[in-house]
Amino acid sequence: MKEMKNVYLDNAATTPIDPQVVEAMIPYLQNHFGNPSSSHSFGRKVKTAIETSRRKISKMLNCNPAEICFTSGGTEADNLALKASIFDLGCTHIITSAIEHSAVIKTAERLADEGKIRLSLVRLTENGHVDLAHLAELLDTPDKTLVTLMHANNEIANVLPLQQVSDLCRANGALFHSDTVQTMGHIPFDLQALDIDFITCAAHKFHGPKGTGFLYVNKNLKINSMIIGGGQERSLRGGTENIYGIVGLAKALELAYEDVEGHRNHVLGLKMYMKDSLQKMIPDVKFNGDCVNENSLYTVLNVNFPPNPNGGMLLFLLDLEGVAASGGSACSSGAAKGSHVLEGINAMEPGRASIRFSFSRFTEKADIDHALAAVGKVLGVKQTETEKVTHGS
Ligand SMILES: Cc1ncc(COP(=O)(O)O)c(C=O)c1O
Repeated sequence: MKEMKNVYLDNAATTPIDPQVVEAMIPYLQNHFGNPSSSHSFGRKVKTAIETSRRKISKMLNCNPAEICFTSGGTEADNLALKASIFDLGCTHIITSAIEHSAVIKTAERLADEGKIRLSLVRLTENGHVDLAHLAELLDTPDKTLVTLMHANNEIANVLPLQQVSDLCRANGALFHSDTVQTMGHIPFDLQALDIDFITCAAHKFHGPKGTGFLYVNKNLKINSMIIGGGQERSLRGGTENIYGIVGLAKALELAYEDVEGHRNHVLGLKMYMKDSLQKMIPDVKFNGDCVNENSLYTVLNVNFPPNPNGGMLLFLLDLEGVAASGGSACSSGAAKGSHVLEGINAMEPGRASIRFSFSRFTEKADIDHALAAVGKVLGVKQTETEKVTHGS
């Protein structure tokens, strides 16, 4: 029996590891097993690999190597930024939004519940952008404030104007953290040009290994570790380092930034192709968030489908057709958990299901064609003969 084609369109959740990244990691899995804190040659060998990785990363981001603190990924880096701002830097007020990643919003809510901070949620515009005028109002307070707003939303792809938010924070003496997990490796950063206190990274979002990432900590800040132990990471994070993870992270970032424009053009082309094709197939299809290219991350397309008998089961039925995407469903069947992001932008219309399709530099046009055919089949929408020919499905 012919094996069914399986396409992966859930790259905002995680990406396949690049074989070149695996290759770079293998010597540290197989041979170089020393503990980087050991002073003998085995230890020095791996310590050098960590410091070389740190230097490579800092060069790509135009920052100081000492500003990179390796972590177990995005969640830990977000936690460290928020907690250090409260416990080490004296913030008593956090401004964030309702559509942040759980690593930020749940941490902020916990800190508020424990009475450590006052929590303010900035208003969002109709299509899910931060209302900058409201942010300015919230910043007008004598309380020492941390603003934590993500660079690109992982569900709806809206991009925050980092420079404008940085300007507002600086004008009001606030600290600024941005969860850049979805943009790191996809959008270049110049941390000499951008005045920001913390940004976060997770390697598995750009073809690196899982369980590794970093927090950029501006050199002007003095923070303490959240994980207390042997003083690793310049006393910012105790625990023996994930050496192969760190080596893989640096290699993945290098590959991502080697031809970031080329990757962007390829992936954006696929996103626009899918968007246009869906609009032709399903006239009353909508897209969640702001789909205008400059304001939207090119790797994510969040589709809002019109009512359909199969709408509530869409994600499951697409999976059966060999299409892996992600929910954010309208929850009409009770089968999938609702999305706090779609709820936060009032995009949960009864009967309409939402699916996030997300792409990477390894996604091909044939994958999109397969997904379009699967959507057509599941929703009972016929693709016209001309569409089939142009799509080649
Ligand atoms: C925006 C954002 N922040 C943080 C995270 C968490 O990163 P990690 O999986 O490395 O803990 C993710 C991943 O799902 C994310 O998309």
